[in-house]
Amino acid sequence: MPRKIAAGNWKMNGLSADLDQIEALYERVGSQQCSVIFCPPVTLLSDFSAQAACFGYETGGQHCHSAQSGAYTGDISAQMLQDAGARYVILGHSERRMAHGETDQEVAQCVAAAQKVGLTPIVCLGESLEDRAAGTTLSVIGAQLAGSLPEGVDASNLVIAYEPIWAIGTGKIPSHQEIEDVHGFLRSELRTRFGPLAEEISLLYGGSVKPENAAEIFAISNVDGGLIGGASMDTDAFAAIIRALDARS
Ligand code: PGA
Repeated sequence: MPRKIAAGNWKMNGLSADLDQIEALYERVGSQQCSVIFCPPVTLLSDFSAQAACFGYETGGQHCHSAQSGAYTGDISAQMLQDAGARYVILGHSERRMAHGETDQEVAQCVAAAQKVGLTPIVCLGESLEDRAAGTTLSVIGAQLAGSLPEGVDASNLVIAYEPIWAIGTGKIPSHQEIEDVHGFLRSELRTRFGPLAEEISLLYGGSVKPENAAEIFAISNVDGGLIGGASMDTDAFAAIIRALDARS
């Protein structure tokens, strides 16, 4: 069975005063069975990692460079994230694919760099509204999946997040059937590539997950949790989403 995961992607939000959200979350949720991961901005990663460990939570970065060090002003390496206490790193988020022109090939190199230092990559895939309207969703996602995982990728240390671009931060979500179709497709593509190991890979849904829709989304087959943006910065909302996921564990 894949691990159930609730990962909060804080994007470019959060200051040191927000550190107390970790304890506040614990006060609302108590202990949980699913894995709870905070992905704060990198400025907060060390402090978050130390604090999260006190409450049974984990942390992740939001991106890393494919090189471990070097003359890359403003960038951050997988090793630096790991050194700051992260266990995960989000890679290939559509906001980075669009705003920074990240290609599948670059994402694959980052996946390799992350796994090399023992981080678990959370690899994001998703179609645009145009893809969906054109009926090409599965072929777009299939190509992203194939292109974003490097040769020799360790399938036992991998998480995939399906995030339709048009659902991120918009309040819109695909129908349950549409989510089920994509997640079932991802599982079958992973089976073809990795055999039985595919059954252990957590497949997260992301894009406008809220307390109001979390239970229904997490009940869909092959949905093993969520990558949560806006709602993960609202402690009450994140707590409710974690409880909804735990109810499926
Ligand atoms: P959202 O973001 O939950 O605010 O839609 C999800 C994401 O971008 O990971």
